[in-house]
Amino acid sequence: MKNMHKKVIAGNWKMNGGFAAARALTQAVLEGVAKEPTLLDRCNFIICPPFLHLQTVRAAIDHAHGPVLLGAQDCSDQDNGAFTGDISAAMLKDGGVGAAILGHSERRQGHKEDNALVAAKAVKAHEAGLLAIICVGEVEAEREAGRHFDVVAEQLAGSLPAGATLENTIIAYEPVWAIGTGKTATPDDVAKMHAFIREKVGNLRILYGGSVKPENAAALFSTENVDGALIGGASLKADQYLGIAKAA
Ligand code: PGA
Repeated sequence: MKNMHKKVIAGNWKMNGGFAAARALTQAVLEGVAKEPTLLDRCNFIICPPFLHLQTVRAAIDHAHGPVLLGAQDCSDQDNGAFTGDISAAMLKDGGVGAAILGHSERRQGHKEDNALVAAKAVKAHEAGLLAIICVGEVEAEREAGRHFDVVAEQLAGSLPAGATLENTIIAYEPVWAIGTGKTATPDDVAKMHAFIREKVGNLRILYGGSVKPENAAALFSTENVDGALIGGASLKADQYLGIAKAA
């Protein structure tokens, strides 16, 4: 994951699908990549299934000797012990997982995760040797009030741990109003926000997320400081996920 010129194509499956679907989707992605090996010169692939399906997806990737990094959608801020329902970063690492999405807006909103908690999770991810994909982004009312830069600055300041480096951390800018809505920020808005984030995070890779599709991927990928995409809905269909990669 070191080549700065490769685009990161990260699929966030969220809470979707059963075992058979997870296996089929992974196989379809791996077959698509195998058919078009030049994709690997241009893209780093990350797939983030639900916790329950991590081992199924891992088995398919391993079986195909597939060049896809396996990611989780969260991890605990604790090491181990009496934390019912939680999964630690070390457990993920032990299970062959290489990355974790942290601070996704659906966790920030639905599970009341604040910046300090996201930072604590990122520290655990780093300690375990996971790549932390830390999400930031404003809600619609904040953008309408012209507060989006302030909100993102505050999220970055609060959720990025001190030890973040190019090797262990990726930032994903996901305007919350663009997630799963079919709305995307304009290339100009994306360029401005990514330039703003670049000033704060230096050489860390910065992904854009929010209704990324094959149709809008080329414009996003040609926008300065966009190092890849975090893809929700479109990552559940192999042809769309691969279509986005082909736009890189
Ligand atoms: P979406 O989700 O592509 O379905 O908008 C993106 C995300 O939440 O990571």
